[in-house]
Amino acid sequence: MVAAVLAAAGSGERLGADRPKAFVRLGDRPLLAESLERLEASEWIEAIVIAAPPEWEEPAILLAEELGCGKVNACVTGGATRGESVRLALVEVPDEAAVVVVHDAARPLVQDEVVERVLAPLGEGWDGAVPALPLADTIKRVRGDEVVETLDRSELRAVQTPQAFVATVLREAYSAGPVDASDCASLVEARGGRVKVVAGDPRLIKVTDAADLERVAAFL
Ligand code: CTP
Ligand code: MG
Repeated sequence: MVAAVLAAAGSGERLGADRPKAFVRLGDRPLLAESLERLEASEWIEAIVIAAPPEWEEPAILLAEELGCGKVNACVTGGATRGESVRLALVEVPDEAAVVVVHDAARPLVQDEVVERVLAPLGEGWDGAVPALPLADTIKRVRGDEVVETLDRSELRAVQTPQAFVATVLREAYSAGPVDASDCASLVEARGGRVKVVAGDPRLIKVTDAADLERVAAFL
């Protein structure tokens, strides 16, 4: 069984709306509706656990009901960081799940083809898989306003979600100490797990500010 964790518990400080980012309007629905509906419709995913912002658990459950999301088997209160939210959601992932896909509600336009791409390597012995895009800009390491070095762009990727993992590997990564990483894969990597990079999707735009929201809306 493949289960999904939908990380939606962030406050959306940089977006600066009057509510958490997951509940900001995208078209005529909360942002969360888009990724939730797409994961529900996935050919691969059989259970969904939502991490909702504190005090927004009820609206999240109501939204799931409204959308007829029968795969949602739990909605947990998120933690102070993304890592904490994922850790709390993992507790509610059914034991039968051999694979866990973790996705950020901040990336509404998730296609089932990407889910398929990150799942495939798990059948080939990989511990996890992440979708990634090559970088167009030159990337430099800086200290203050001074360039320290220019990195080899050909070796760099911008990593997205959904990310897929062998459930036991992901649970272990989240039970072993601090989880303050910006993605799940880095915790798995840090414990020696082998993570494969697969093709990402340019539509998997991450909503950080108001301009991102407009770019996503243009794709709807
Ligand atoms: N997230 C979460 N719990 C947190 C923080 C973030 O579940 N405590 C989720 C967000 O809901 C989002 C994803 O992790 O789907 C990526 O986080 P980000 O884009 O940084 O969202 P926010 O933390 O909400 O935004 P900001 O950093 O601007 O406050
Ligand atoms: Mg954040």
